[in-house]
Amino acid sequence: MINMNIAILGATGTTGRYIVDELLASEHAVYVTALVRASSADKPEVQDLKARGVAIQLIDLQGSIEDMTKALEGQEVLIAILPIAATIDQIPLATAAKKAGVKRFIPTMFAPVAPPKGLSTLRDTKEDVLNHIRRLQLPYTIIDVGWWYQLTLPKLPSGRIDKAASGLAERIPGDGNVLSAFTHNRDVGRYVVRATLDPRTLNKFVFIYSEMLTMNQVYDQLEKLSGETLPRNHISGDELLANLAQLKDVGIRDDNFLQKAVYEYQYSWGVRGDNNIHNAEYLGYMLGKNLYPDLKGTSMDEYIQELLDESS
Ligand SMILES: NC(=O)c1ccc[n+]([C@@H]2O[C@H](COP(=O)([O-])OP(=O)(O)OC[C@H]3O[C@@H](n4cnc5c(N)ncnc54)[C@H](OP(=O)(O)O)[C@@H]3O)[C@@H](O)[C@H]2O)c1
Repeated sequence: MINMNIAILGATGTTGRYIVDELLASEHAVYVTALVRASSADKPEVQDLKARGVAIQLIDLQGSIEDMTKALEGQEVLIAILPIAATIDQIPLATAAKKAGVKRFIPTMFAPVAPPKGLSTLRDTKEDVLNHIRRLQLPYTIIDVGWWYQLTLPKLPSGRIDKAASGLAERIPGDGNVLSAFTHNRDVGRYVVRATLDPRTLNKFVFIYSEMLTMNQVYDQLEKLSGETLPRNHISGDELLANLAQLKDVGIRDDNFLQKAVYEYQYSWGVRGDNNIHNAEYLGYMLGKNLYPDLKGTSMDEYIQELLDESS
């Protein structure tokens, strides 16, 4: 039985809540603390965490290193699953984690696989955080995840799954035949908790994914299960690069950064083919499916069927 204090930043977020669910369901004696900014402390989601036995500790990522260090004292693991705007705030956070004696920091990476530097502005910022962690000699685990299922499906002509469509999949990057790793959010929680408690993953990179598919296969599956015919509109590699050239001066804190990040990711996973297990292994990642063969991820078919069932 493992006995461990685990703090999580972003516990109420889209992905963070799945990680908390799995931590609370763990067979091990894990004591979970949600690190929350003061302005969010009264939110119902935070009160709900408290009611489920999660300790709440206030933290200010823009505050002093000293205050952050105090907030982290006694924590053995720190998981941060923060939004884009807070990515760079993890640099002082890592300094505080080192001072507080945290034994493993899992910073916000959680991105599709790609080599560092030059392909994705967001990934590069996350890599800057990693470099800082390494300079500190703070123990870490990097966890990357395949492109979310939740961002992958286009709308159906009938409008049946409009609620679940992100609007980011109405055009297929490239010719649609590039193999890429995709992930159900729920699976992220399961694998992250296993990797967090696993000594083999200390100071390593782990890649989590549910299924490898091409976008044409995703569209085929959606057509088969829904019985509907989808238009297949593509966005070519050249068009993605032209769009990115126009956005070249957009920085991570700018309002239209998300659009830039999506084009960069689409070019990387949908045209170049960076986000697959072969490239992950080439880049030195351990694969979640090899580490935890007993975990069964959600297939794209199952995800699509769940959405169709919910809509009927
Ligand atoms: N692989 C993929 O396909 C993929 C897709 C989407 C996202 N991602 C990555 O996944 C990561 C998490 O995204 P997400 O969508 O799960 O995040 P999210 O839903 O936006 O959740 C953000 C969480 O962080 C908290 N938070 C925000 N700013 C904070 C601050 N300054 N101090 C303390 N807490 C703060 C929020 O709480 P309050 O706001 O209530 O304080 C919330 O709990 C990101 O790095 C993103 O790039 C990957």
